[in-house]
Amino acid sequence: MNIPQHIAIIMDGNGRWAKQQNKPRSYGHFVGTDNVRNIALKADELGVKVLTLYAFSTENWKRPKEEIDYLMSLPAVFFDKFLKELMEKNIKIEVIGDLSVLPVKTIKVLNQAIKKTKHNSGMILVFALNYGGRNDIVEAVNEIIKKGNITAITEQDITNNISTKNYPDVDLMIRTSLDYRISNFLLWQLSYAELIFIDCYWPAFNGEKFVEAIEEYSNRQRRFGGLL
Ligand code: FPP
Repeated sequence: MNIPQHIAIIMDGNGRWAKQQNKPRSYGHFVGTDNVRNIALKADELGVKVLTLYAFSTENWKRPKEEIDYLMSLPAVFFDKFLKELMEKNIKIEVIGDLSVLPVKTIKVLNQAIKKTKHNSGMILVFALNYGGRNDIVEAVNEIIKKGNITAITEQDITNNISTKNYPDVDLMIRTSLDYRISNFLLWQLSYAELIFIDCYWPAFNGEKFVEAIEEYSNRQRRFGGLL
């Protein structure tokens, strides 16, 4: 099996999964958070180098305040439960997106996890939080402008200044729940990624289904616009 170096996932369907179980949406997010641990450990075991998870988009602020507050409490829930295990697996935590407007407590919890795992040399687990793909490109261009005296820029300039500049390009993007959208996720970085949409809500997505998706990726022939 050809293991993608960088996998990005849109973890969709927490709410619908909860509804199916006659539970509140928050329960779906709670179980979905546990599932982040399962899939991250599986990715690590398989030898994935970078796993980027879409945890909160710039559009998610449109949700009811109660749900936003709950989502913002999840990093604390996640790291309280699993940071020790992630450390043992030598996993490094990083974040992309504009953290500055998140609740102070959420920022603190995230920064603690980033700091604690900073010297880990294994898989990088990236949470995209208050992340938007268009904004990511705009911020990259602003970075370039700040460096001064620019009349024209190249694709490489954007790649070198975008939030994911230290990671390889995304090879595989998985979206659970069968919505066929990118939803302003890594727009620049997904240019040549294989896209796989899975008929399963995020809390029910497991290691076995993850491996099946990677098998499907393995069987695709990536031509990057050229001929084989
Ligand atoms: C999409 O389901 C899911 C989200 C908006 C939140 C995803 C976040 C997590 C799984 C937890 C993140 C964990 C950490 C540590 C940051 P939805 O609510 O859009 O589901 P629906 O489409 O069925 O309503």
